[in-house]
Amino acid sequence: MEIAVIGAGHVGLVCAACLAGIGHRVRVQDIDGDRVEELARGETPFLEPGLDELLGEGRKSGRLSFHTDPADALPDAKLIFICVPTWTNGDTADLSAVVAAASAVAKHAADDAVLVNRSTSPVGTLEYIRTLVEEERGSALDVVSNPEFLAEGTAVADFLAPYRIVIGAWEEWAVERLVEAYRPILDGLLPEPTRRWVKGREATRTIPVPLLITAPETAELTKYAANAFLAVKISFINEMATIADRFGADVDEVSTALGLDPRIGPHFLAAGLGWGGSCFPKDILVLKGMAETSGVSARILSAANEVNTDQRRWVVHKLRSNLKTLLGRRVALLGLSFKPNTDDIRNAPALEIADDLVRLNVHVRAFDPAVTRLPAPLDGSVEIAADPIAAATGADALVVATEWPQFADLPLAELRAVMRVPLLIDGRNCIDPDRARAAGFIYVGVGRGGGDVLPINGRASGAATGESRQDPASLTPMHPAMPAGRPTTDPAGAGR
Ligand code: UGA
Repeated sequence: MEIAVIGAGHVGLVCAACLAGIGHRVRVQDIDGDRVEELARGETPFLEPGLDELLGEGRKSGRLSFHTDPADALPDAKLIFICVPTWTNGDTADLSAVVAAASAVAKHAADDAVLVNRSTSPVGTLEYIRTLVEEERGSALDVVSNPEFLAEGTAVADFLAPYRIVIGAWEEWAVERLVEAYRPILDGLLPEPTRRWVKGREATRTIPVPLLITAPETAELTKYAANAFLAVKISFINEMATIADRFGADVDEVSTALGLDPRIGPHFLAAGLGWGGSCFPKDILVLKGMAETSGVSARILSAANEVNTDQRRWVVHKLRSNLKTLLGRRVALLGLSFKPNTDDIRNAPALEIADDLVRLNVHVRAFDPAVTRLPAPLDGSVEIAADPIAAATGADALVVATEWPQFADLPLAELRAVMRVPLLIDGRNCIDPDRARAAGFIYVGVGRGGGDVLPINGRASGAATGESRQDPASLTPMHPAMPAGRPTTDPAGAGR
């Protein structure tokens, strides 16, 4: 089928590469001329496992091409996917890119084309798009909402082996057109070159893929609800982590026990530094805004958001409670991307932590397997190291901010040997505490006990885990003139 995809970002490119991979002819259009040239030259603009290979195969087969002019990409298409970003203005969505894309569709689409909106947009957007297109074109075009559930790092598998496909539409024939395009995916009959990207999903996916045909408003809300539910789950476990910390319980074991109950499930129960990325932060705000402007108070969303904001301060709090003063300290930050297997740093907890630390006059040296440059102003204030050892040399603390798989096997003894203070703050609970302690580290994980001690009857209780038996005040002070335990002089004060 002839398909056009508007938007060559994380969603659009994955859609285009996968649709070409299952045999369609796909033209990708983007207003960013540099990106289009880059793609035409054979370069993949961001890290997404499988994407580079699929784009390469699509170019080679001639089924994939890249354009800046909608007039080159849209006229022959039977399906036109809108995959452009929706930004936010506070808690309202900025639909300017969606509107511009819809306008291009109005001008250049064939009469029998179907417009498919995949950009996450507030309830009512499809209706709005339908009206805009009709007004601009002078005739109606069929439109459907088809929310994407692609998570960065697994987006190719999420597209080719989805857990469900949701289509919100008014016209049955428009749904049939989209179903026809998705047929190999729905039936689990992927052609050979694409099949390799779904290995490992056999046990968890259902074939045929569940297909939900709904009203457009329902499809639009489903997308927000899915992200919101996952975010709430994360905030829930992070709140449990804070409680676990107070009582010397281990939140990872709590999480394992919870996840074994099929009513709860094991996913999105990993305590850590809170959610980040380009989706959850904005989607929660927009859903909350949508609810509140219609008189519905979104209490659960507000609470989840608050917990997430607090969680971002966890690292600074733990550094402060263990090192006493932060002024002039050196911190090695491992991981910058918002999650592993991506080089995306949008709303990455690591960046917020780095920014807080820099403002507290901490010297930050960071290492990330995929991120080698930072945006301004952090590019001038955070040093990028070539490897974890270089980042840790002379450091007063090692902070793990992203759970890259390779961090589980860090050479801990070597790291310990080059550091000034053996403090390991594991913001993702991805390092084995016993291994860290055996290497000589004082280990602080999220909700794994330790770090803070709960006073019982006026005595420090000592939480259940190892490092709590060590007196944080015994850590080496940075300057003899600044003894450990001295009240902080950090500009941001103790309230952070
Ligand atoms: C998310 C959804 O998972 C996708 O289904 C959705 O399509 C996408 O947003 C979108 O709206 O486009 P993504 O933001 O790429 O995907 O990443 P996630 O894997 O969902 O992670 C989001 C955040 O939650 C990350 O910061 C991650 O570190 C954090 N997280 C995740 C936790 O803190 N704990 C967990 O147990 C899981």
